[in-house]
Amino acid sequence: MPSGQAVLHKGRWVASRMPAATPEGADEASANRDLWTQASADYTDEHAIRAWAANEITWGIFNIPEDQLDVLGEVAGLDVVELGCGTAYFSAWLARRGARPVGIDLTPAQLATARRCQERFGLSFPLLEADAGHIPLPGRRFDLAISECGASLWCDPARWIPEAARLLRPGGRLVFHTTTVLVAMCQPGMTRYAGQELLRPQREVSRLQSPGHGVEFHPSHSEWIQILRAAGFAIDALHELYAPPDASTHPYYKLATARWAQQWPVEEIWVAHLTPADADIAAETPQ
Ligand SMILES: C[S@@+](CC[C@H](N)C(=O)[O-])C[C@H]1O[C@@H](n2cnc3c(N)ncnc32)[C@H](O)[C@@H]1O
Repeated sequence: MPSGQAVLHKGRWVASRMPAATPEGADEASANRDLWTQASADYTDEHAIRAWAANEITWGIFNIPEDQLDVLGEVAGLDVVELGCGTAYFSAWLARRGARPVGIDLTPAQLATARRCQERFGLSFPLLEADAGHIPLPGRRFDLAISECGASLWCDPARWIPEAARLLRPGGRLVFHTTTVLVAMCQPGMTRYAGQELLRPQREVSRLQSPGHGVEFHPSHSEWIQILRAAGFAIDALHELYAPPDASTHPYYKLATARWAQQWPVEEIWVAHLTPADADIAAETPQ
């Protein structure tokens, strides 16, 4: 199995030992920073206090309890990096359970909210403004890399997955949550709920750019497997998330109604770990 970066070539993800090209990445980062600056003003700044105040760890727009899924396991004592931490409530939940998180995000407005919440809740951990595809931290520094619809959805996986591999210690775990290819194919527009028809070809949603709505990445399952393996990860689990029977439709993230998401998986969580042999190569790969 070749190790190194994965690149999108003629519509397919392929392994390469070359660093990912940057011009496309730079465009995506700037469009997504603009989008999340606006989202901060519209919703996430105000929502952050509620999320920080919650005691329970939950996943996604329908708040599926971690206790039901059990994807994280024991986190006490772990060095954790959150890639695209936004307002950093997920890192806060992990810190309260004894982890040592570092939050990475591209958008200053999101990090400003995270810092205000740190002060308000008296819980401090490092926050770093950086692109998840190029993080100015030494390698082999973390036990767990996590992303909850952060880099996992908004950063080119050819850039951030190898970077997660570089940051992890041998055997370190990667847990990321993102929205499904299915919902991306069924959405009539980025701000309208998914319907019951396939409106976009699967091959077009790998990189999905919409005017005024940034750039999302929806690799298919086979593409995720290729990307993860190319970076040295072994896959442990894939959890497909449905809305619970009593769920309400999310008022801000117009992705799918609760009714839709009770029938089809709207989000998913991947769990992988860095295989020890490949960890050596990932740590040596120049960024
Ligand atoms: C839906 S939020 C997810 C974060 C968190 N779970 C939350 O809801 O606050 C997406 C975040 O990803 C960040 N992001 C997008 N692209 C990124 C990149 N290339 N590197 C780091 N962060 C990125 C955005 O700035 C935004 O804060």
